[in-house]
Amino acid sequence: MRFYIHTFGCQMNENDSKLLAEHLLSAGHTPAADIDDAQLIVVNTCCVREAAENRALGFIGSIKKHKQQRPETIIAVCGCMAQRSEIAEKLAARYRHVGVIIGTFAAARLPRYIAEYAATGRVIIDVEERYTGEELSHDTNVIDSYAGQFRAQVNINYGCNNFCSYCIVPYVRGRERSRQPQHIIDEIRTLAAAGVVEVQLLGQNVNSYGNDFTDDSWDFAALLTAVNDIDGLRRIRYMTSHPRDFDRRLAETIAGLDKVCHHFHLPLQSGSDRLLKLMNRGYSCDYYHKLLCMIRELFTDATITTDLIVGFPGESDEDHAQTLDFVAECQFDAAYTFLYSKRSGTPAAAMSGHISAELKKKRMQQLTAVQEPISLRKNQQHLGRVETVLVEGASKNDPQMLSGRNDGNKTVIFAAADARAGELRQLRITGAKTWNLYGELTKS
Ligand code: SAH
Ligand code: SF4
Ligand code: F3S
Repeated sequence: MRFYIHTFGCQMNENDSKLLAEHLLSAGHTPAADIDDAQLIVVNTCCVREAAENRALGFIGSIKKHKQQRPETIIAVCGCMAQRSEIAEKLAARYRHVGVIIGTFAAARLPRYIAEYAATGRVIIDVEERYTGEELSHDTNVIDSYAGQFRAQVNINYGCNNFCSYCIVPYVRGRERSRQPQHIIDEIRTLAAAGVVEVQLLGQNVNSYGNDFTDDSWDFAALLTAVNDIDGLRRIRYMTSHPRDFDRRLAETIAGLDKVCHHFHLPLQSGSDRLLKLMNRGYSCDYYHKLLCMIRELFTDATITTDLIVGFPGESDEDHAQTLDFVAECQFDAAYTFLYSKRSGTPAAAMSGHISAELKKKRMQQLTAVQEPISLRKNQQHLGRVETVLVEGASKNDPQMLSGRNDGNKTVIFAAADARAGELRQLRITGAKTWNLYGELTKS
């Protein structure tokens, strides 16, 4: 069957869709040219905020016409939103054009369920929280499909045990479980041999890699060290670090590894100790500040980014003011800012003092007004430097130009006739805006 996958959500979901595509290819299916051409439509959903959920539901509703026009079309819904049992029930009851509804625990079984549904026509629902050891990973049978691709993501641990009080992820991705190091290393070796030069290790909290192993021979630092040794690989990134679990030993390990990028994404969430406690984050602003100082002392070229939530239940003017002050103090290269979204079933949903949409918006504006000039100033500090950029291809905003990423994951836009996607090139930074850098190839 010709398949089309539509993805909502984070990088982990983007990668899951890629892995699902590999498994579908392996099962003999082929990619469709576009959604109109598809015989199988897979919707990979997210539920981290209400808006993401509404977008996914809207999209699922909008593809009913495909089933009406071509009744043999198979529509499957998977991912985090489908894992929520109340949503799975709603999908089954109200979205009768959907044939397969599976949660995150059943993702690796998608090709089997598609075959079953094609044979019987009976709706399949599998949203149980089951730990079968069958997790989504690269299908090395089709790794040739990576020819010409230069970046890949590799899961190192699944699930999350942190239960930040606002967050739905631990409920839809289950308990933390780490992949065997040898599986990860073999997979990255295969990818590198197929031409991948940059790998991003993925987990909701990569710093707790190996905590679930019976012995303590492997942790995240050991894994990075092993991955750093893989021939052909040039750059290693990882996502996400929990600040509580990022220690000096890990930072020192990274400082000794030549391929690991000096980009530190450390979600702060709030600059108020009172809210950090209510959020169950497990650190204070003082701890976080010391962590940044330690990183900046070890890495003079560190790029530090963060996530922030505004409008957490009970957030007072004072809490918000503390966040603004602390964000100014931290001097982040960039901050991803989110309006708090109530997720039923999480502890924060039941807390008192929910903030009005209007006030949340106002606070968000105040926060971006603090951060944006900092991002710009941080970017201006790159002016005149020569940096290594992994060329990605035509720039989204200006197809005449190329774009790539520097070590800190900042987008650099430049003109070059001879640079090709996947090459690491030296660029002199000649321009800086809030979101992007601009550069020129140096003579090589
Ligand atoms: N495990 C990762 C990713 C979590 S989701 C981490 O801990 O960073 C990515 C971001 O979404 C979080 O960092 C948080 O800032 C935001 N987020 C999570 N739940 C949210 C909610 N209910 N409302 C608003 N933002 C939320
Ligand atoms: Fe959610 Fe916290 Fe886990 Fe991140 S660490 S996925 S924010 S519970
Ligand atoms: Fe990612 Fe959304 Fe799930 S952010 S982990 S796809 S809830």
